[in-house]
Amino acid sequence: MPQDSSIIACCDILSQDNRMFTIIIGTNRPDSNSAKIASIIQEIYQSLDAPVELLDLGDLPPETFDPSAYSDKPEAFLPFSKKILNSSGLVVVAPEYNGGIPGVLKYFIDLLEFPESFDRRPICFVGLAAGQWGGLRTVEHLQQVCGYRNAHIFPVRVFLAGIHKLLDKEGHLTGPDIHQRLQKQADGFIAFVRKLQS
Ligand SMILES: Cc1cc2nc3c(=O)[nH]c(=O)nc-3n(C[C@H](O)[C@H](O)[C@H](O)COP(=O)(O)O)c2cc1C
Repeated sequence: MPQDSSIIACCDILSQDNRMFTIIIGTNRPDSNSAKIASIIQEIYQSLDAPVELLDLGDLPPETFDPSAYSDKPEAFLPFSKKILNSSGLVVVAPEYNGGIPGVLKYFIDLLEFPESFDRRPICFVGLAAGQWGGLRTVEHLQQVCGYRNAHIFPVRVFLAGIHKLLDKEGHLTGPDIHQRLQKQADGFIAFVRKLQS
């Protein structure tokens, strides 16, 4: 009897010992606030002894954007898709662009292998925006897309409204409360991933 590839993918995730977390910087805009917040989140995961790596959409090679990439994945794209497949937990840090997710983030998702990239893979979200809703629309859009792809969505979301006031010129947080919220999400998400693996 043929085996369901989504079940195999799920077992692969659950049998991983290294518990690698991947933080996706959900834009390719140079000097983005998303990258600054992602670095802060990376430090939080490191302080919690959780193996973590960044995946920056700004590093996507130019050939990724050739229309032929849908059918023939460029060689240079494979390390990016592998990072997703080797992750036991994904943290997406994404800004709000025109009331939704940046086009490059959706395009990246559309190029990934399916169903195994998201199927039963734990995922959590941090949204940010200049405006008062703090990326709520972005995160809900992502929940819709990743929910459609059967990801295990962690329910604690973080929204960073008025992002320009939350970061100083060096990319540090201007106050302690956002760090606490990000830390609380990270604590909970690590426990969530471990529970799913046990
Ligand atoms: C293309 C684009 C569209 C944007 N659309 C919105 C928006 O719909 N709502 C909002 O609050 N801010 C919007 N902004 C402002 C961004 O939320 C803000 O500049 C944020 O820092 C962008 O994230 P980034 O620095 O990670 O690129 C937009 C910015 C850009 C570049």
